[in-house]
Formats: sequence, structure tokens, C-alpha cells
Amino acid sequence: MNDIKTFFKNLNQKRIKTIFNVEYSIQNKLSNKKPLKKTNGNKEKSISGDLKFEKVTLIYPNGFRALRDINFTVKHGEFIALIGNSGSGKTSILNTIAAMYKISKGKISLGDTFISSNSKRKYILSLRRQIGFVFQHKNVIEGLLVYDNVKSGLENKLSKFEKLTGIILPVNKKKIYDALALVKLESLMFEKVKNLSGGQQQRVALARALVSNPKLILADEPVSALDVVNQEAVMNTFHRINKVEGITVLVNLHHIDLALKYADKIIGVKDGEVVFFDKTTKATPLVIKKIFGKEIKDITPQSIKDSLKYNKNL
Ligand SMILES: Nc1ncnc2c1ncn2[C@@H]1O[C@H](COP(=O)(O)OP(=O)(O)OP(=O)(O)O)[C@@H](O)[C@H]1O
Ligand SMILES: [Mg+2]
Repeated sequence: MNDIKTFFKNLNQKRIKTIFNVEYSIQNKLSNKKPLKKTNGNKEKSISGDLKFEKVTLIYPNGFRALRDINFTVKHGEFIALIGNSGSGKTSILNTIAAMYKISKGKISLGDTFISSNSKRKYILSLRRQIGFVFQHKNVIEGLLVYDNVKSGLENKLSKFEKLTGIILPVNKKKIYDALALVKLESLMFEKVKNLSGGQQQRVALARALVSNPKLILADEPVSALDVVNQEAVMNTFHRINKVEGITVLVNLHHIDLALKYADKIIGVKDGEVVFFDKTTKATPLVIKKIFGKEIKDITPQSIKDSLKYNKNL
């Protein structure tokens, strides 16, 4: 019985794969003749550029002041790690970039565009479509194929025809393939997500964020739920995408060693304030103590040195 099940499963996967390959090769031939038109940016105002926080204060609706007078400028293409104690305000910073909450004071801009929840809803939705989000809980649908999970990242960009018929045009299939190739999972495209390791599943989530061609990736503790090996694999993938594709990455991390190993710069957040913003190589035991208000077990002068050495050799 199991053999029959496996036979049909393989047959079905082969069928989807063959259809995909034929369409993909046709698309490739076409795109060799004529470059693909970039759909992104034609209708929407592109949001690429430096990300600037000027005296930003965030007071949540219940009156809690989560961010105070925050200032920093992230240059386009930088890899930034946000570190700090639990409750210090890291997620709140990412929330304000995604315009989830209206800031109480100050300005946030991305390139020449101001981000603020005062803006029209249409604009905010357009902004969010251009940001890739990755969370601690992978938010992948385990029962579906890797392909379908990544496709869901394109939902807003599919045509009415594709939504109605479920037939995905080759140009969009190519986007799905390319996003998976970026996270090196193209060979598992027709595998069910539940058969993948935790790290691979998080890379599927990253591919889903990448498929809509974002200029900025915001990741909130993307490796917290993973074991050490998978943490490194996922951080390596973020790093490669940042360096190869030039996408700005802001990632909240609980693991100080990973921040030191992979980021260009660190934002140290303490009690709603930025107490350190500089190149990762400037981090010292004293800096870590300043951010966390105490010495951290396992983070020693030697471990900091080792992490920074790793970072330099990346
Ligand atoms: N929607 C909200 N309404 C009111 N207070 C909030 C809200 N979200 C967060 N806070 C409070 O703001 C502060 C900062 O929270 P935030 O989630 O930004 O911290 P964090 O640094 O991301 O913490 P963690 O490392 O635990 O994820 C906390 O005191 C939190 O309780
Ligand atoms: Mg958080």
C-alpha cells in the first residue's frame, strides 16, 4: 500500500516538475530575446534608499513609551543586527519601519519617502509590499509544496487570470524559481515543506519574502527557534542575499555571537533608546555591557574576538 502511495506521490511530483521545466525553458528562451519587463516599480513608488530615523518616539495606544528619540541612518545595502534585552524595543523599531504603528514624534524616511502611519492606507500597503518580512515562527504551510509556499509571497502581484484559474504564468514561475535559487533550495521546489529541516523551512520563508523583489528585508528573530547548525545556515543565507543582491537587511537577534559574526553594523537597543550604533568591528566587551546592562554569560573578550574574526573573513 505504501509503495503504491509513494509511486503516485513521485508520479505527481514528476508531472508538476515536467510542466514547470517546459514552461521555464520556454520562458528562458523568450527572456533571452527580450529582457523581462520589471513589473515592480511601474505602478508603485519605489522605496529604495537609505533608512533614516530622526528623533523617533513611539508611544503605544496603551500609553507605553517604547522608543525614545531614536536616531540612526542605515545605508542602502547594509546588513544591520539589532540586539538588546528582551523588551528593549527591537521589534518596535521594525514595527515602525513597516508603519504598523503611528509614531508619536520624529521622522522615518526611506530614500526620499517618508514612512508614517499618517499616510494613506493605499500607500502603506504599497510600502509593505516592497518590504520582505521574516519572523521567528516560520509561517510556512507545512502541508504544501515549497513551490506553493513561495508562490504565496506573490499573491499581491498575480494577475486576475492567475488568481481565477490557478494557472501561474511562466514569468511568475521564473520568479519563484529564482527566489528559491537565491536560498539554494531550488532542488527541493516540489517537496512538501514538512519534509524539510527547520533551517530549510526558514529559508523557504526567506524565499517567500524575496519573491516579490523587496528592497528591504526585516527579520524578527529568524533563527531563535533553530539549532546551532541551522542558525548558521540561515544567517549565511541572509548574508549572501545581502551581499549578492544588495538588499538592505535589518535583523533582530537574541544571539550576540551571530550579530558579531554576520552584521556590518550593530544597533544596540536599551530601554527604548539606541545606546550603540556603529560598525560591528567596534564592538567590545564594554559595548556589550552597555547594551545589556550586565555581562553576558558565554560572551567573553575571546568569543567577541573570534566572532569578529569570522565576520572579517566572510
Ligand atoms: N502593542 C503594544 N502595546 C503596548 N506595549 C507594547 C506593544 N508591543 C510591545 N510593547 C512593549 O514595548 C516594549 C518593547 O517591546 P518590543 O517587543 O519592541 O521588545 P523586543 O526588544 O522586541 O523584545 P523581545 O526581545 O522580547 O522580542 C516592551 O515593554 C513591550 O511590553
Ligand atoms: Mg521582539
